Amino acid sequence: MAAFAPSGLFMSRQILVTSALPYANGSIHLGHLVEYIQTDIWVRFQKMCGHDCRYLCADDTHGTAIMLRAEKEGITPETLIGRVWIDHTRDFAGFNIGFDHYYSTHSDENRELASTIYLRLKEAGLIEIKTIAQLYDPVKNLFLPDRFIKGECPKCGALDQYGDNCEVCGATYSPTELKNPVSAVSGATPVHKDSEHYFFKLGACEAFLREWTTSGALQSEAANKMQEWFASGLNNWDISRDAPYFGFEIPGAPGKYFYVWLDAPVGYMASFAKYAADNGLDFDAWWGAESKTELVHFIGKDILYFHALFWPAMLKFSGHRLPTAVYAHGFLTVNGQKMSKSRGTFITADSYLAQKLNPEWLRYYYAAKLNGSMEDIDLNLDDFVARVNSDLVGKFINIASRTAGFIRKNFDGKLADGVANLELIGDFQAAAGTIAAHYEARDYAKALREIMALADRANQYVADEKPWELAKKPEAIYRLHEVCTVALNCFRLLTLYLKPVLPKLAEQVEAFLNIPPLAWEDSQSLFIRHRINEYSHLMTRIDPKSIEAMVDANKQNLEPTPAPAPVRHAEAQVNATQPVADTISIDDFAKIDLRIARIAEASHVEGADKLLRLTLDVGELGTRQVFAGIKSAYAPETLVGRLTVVVANLAPRKMKFGMSEGMVLAASGDAPGLFILSPDSGAQPGMKVK
Ligand code: MSP
Ligand code: ZN
Repeated sequence: MAAFAPSGLFMSRQILVTSALPYANGSIHLGHLVEYIQTDIWVRFQKMCGHDCRYLCADDTHGTAIMLRAEKEGITPETLIGRVWIDHTRDFAGFNIGFDHYYSTHSDENRELASTIYLRLKEAGLIEIKTIAQLYDPVKNLFLPDRFIKGECPKCGALDQYGDNCEVCGATYSPTELKNPVSAVSGATPVHKDSEHYFFKLGACEAFLREWTTSGALQSEAANKMQEWFASGLNNWDISRDAPYFGFEIPGAPGKYFYVWLDAPVGYMASFAKYAADNGLDFDAWWGAESKTELVHFIGKDILYFHALFWPAMLKFSGHRLPTAVYAHGFLTVNGQKMSKSRGTFITADSYLAQKLNPEWLRYYYAAKLNGSMEDIDLNLDDFVARVNSDLVGKFINIASRTAGFIRKNFDGKLADGVANLELIGDFQAAAGTIAAHYEARDYAKALREIMALADRANQYVADEKPWELAKKPEAIYRLHEVCTVALNCFRLLTLYLKPVLPKLAEQVEAFLNIPPLAWEDSQSLFIRHRINEYSHLMTRIDPKSIEAMVDANKQNLEPTPAPAPVRHAEAQVNATQPVADTISIDDFAKIDLRIARIAEASHVEGADKLLRLTLDVGELGTRQVFAGIKSAYAPETLVGRLTVVVANLAPRKMKFGMSEGMVLAASGDAPGLFILSPDSGAQPGMKVK
């Protein structure tokens, strides 16, 4: 479908566009922004083409993580998500993301719609109830989500792995298969507990899904991925969670809640429902099974499964329309690596804005890298500075800054009556179609390459004509007028083409050129016989120092407040937080005799509420008795047989309960839990740790 046709042929489309709903348990970072910037550019482009395009989003507010975080902060989940909503919307506004509506999944509309969809799926025979055993925290009285369980990988034995997959051997498994599991919430040993769960019978939707996933709604890379998923078989999807859970209770199932991923995509609909009610739109015309509008979802590749399988199946079998397109993008790396907190490259949106870095620089850089595929994109910070300074300031802005002054000074701000170089301007106008096609296909990289090639031609024209020399010769005044008019025509068209990417800059240019907001069809008109306003500086260069300051600020974020949380000893004095020590020499370090120890026995100590008595087998050093302040985190019987690390040359100390002949190392921090250290598999008691 042609979004824009220079002939004047125009078909107006109605398009509902969404970005994935960010979790309400964290800040927006530069990785998220890839998606919101990608979507916003597409939406702004559609709007410039005169289409009826609406951009909807919301915070994704439900789940155990949000519930626990609120609890830790001593506030209600409602208060937490209210605060995060304010932060998120402020960050998005800071990057000129122009949502038509930004809602929350914790809304009446969402509760209603999620319940309706569920009940229709149930009527269609697609819900089944099964009793399953799950790990349960007996201290917190809580079923533990996979991410809140740690233990040893059932395949390779690696320690300290999450409940769903092993980062060492890559195995995926169910948390009940983990060996020596520990609750990350309380440190308690989880128990197996049965509970009834509600499942969406995805397997029964296979025929429909096979057809839909090859219908053209997905990128080919995504459609191929689907084939792998079909080949490995579709599992029925567990859509219920037991109380306590922050979410919506399932109708007719007291104590059971919709799993956050059930009501999250319904949040797209709910955001629209609220928006439609406020703006007099007909909900069914957009979401009914017969809807003729387009529905376009922008997502990251990590959540493809939800959007390409669960969501279309939910829509289809609840009598709704299907997505027209699901567009997945890749992940952001910074300087070629995964964003990292310790390197300062886990950069929050807020820290970028706090350095007074222009949001449109990042929009431009991302656009220059995005090509509509699922490939990862890299933010190389040096390249970022170089590219933005050279393209935007050096090439684009330069055209206006070198010519506008002459129009004001010599021609009272008025442009000439015609353009002297019709060939150049004709080429600029003719590019509107291909640039539009690139935007439509989300190949912003190609669009910008084409636009910058035009900017090069405009600069060449100015360099050849040398208006600053013409201005010195009274007989060349007419030529000066012509040249500057041509240059400003070029500048206006470049602004128009860049406007989806640089909306604020375009607004400033519109004010300077004294014109109404540029629409795509304006590309076909000439810019003559018109009075412009005074040029004032439009964009500065990036100062690399602000980039360094931003990276530093993100490293500082890491330092736990108020007290630092180093690895500290798990002895009786465990509660006395140690300050981070000044540096020590290697010789100082060599004085500490760290050894691998096998916990041979572990028992409670009568009269001590924090201590366990451990008997350690330290190989050649024999056995030792140590009192460790780890009772809150470990049941003694779970420790027996485990390897750990002990400070073997600590002077023995006489404690109330007996001699302590060493110290077992354990980690703790702001998050709940206490974690004793364990060596990798293969280590033997008595080995030196250095
Ligand atoms: N809440 C879910 C989405 C529910 S949609 C019904 C979620 N939230 S998220 O906050 O983790 O991510 C929001 C979006 O940002 C996702 O599309 C995700 O892929 C994207 N990104 C998060 N980190 C990213 C990068 N480092 N790079 C690129 N995109 C990333 O998933
Ligand atoms: Zn493993």
